Amino acid sequence: MTQRTLVILKPDAVRRGLVGTLLARYEAKGLSIVAMEQRTIDAAKADEHYAEHVERDFYPPLRAFVTSGPLVVLVLEGDEAIEVVRALNGATDGRKAAPGTIRGDFSLSNRENLVHGSDSPESAEREISLWFGAL
Ligand code: RTP
Ligand code: MG
Repeated sequence: MTQRTLVILKPDAVRRGLVGTLLARYEAKGLSIVAMEQRTIDAAKADEHYAEHVERDFYPPLRAFVTSGPLVVLVLEGDEAIEVVRALNGATDGRKAAPGTIRGDFSLSNRENLVHGSDSPESAEREISLWFGAL
């Protein structure tokens, strides 16, 4: 089933010059870029994106991180794109993520873990609308 998913190349990816490398992985897999933009977000936008996490202990430093510099937000499309992107991204904690995944290959952190991918069809719909409106 063709799906769309919302991906963020977080500020650490931009700072480290990994945007091209990470996009190449998604493209090599066969996913299509439907929309893409570099943006710098404020705390209110971070809170909307991470609405399910705003009350958590780990959220204040996460908010500081995602607002710390430009990020690249994109919509990817393809067969089972939501699950496929999550698999390419790897486990949340880069120290535990499997080699071969983006986080497993490039991240040594549970916060600076380079990428975000929507975790369900409902999240994808909400996040695509939040970042891009009607596509
Ligand atoms: P993301 O939303 O960024 O794609 O990451 P994810 O689905 O793999 O992980 P999620 O559970 O949605 O958590 C969002 C971000 O919050 C940070 N986090 N820290 N216990 C902790 O310290 C903790 N749990 C989550 C991570 O930076 C994660 O990317
Ligand atoms: Mg998540």
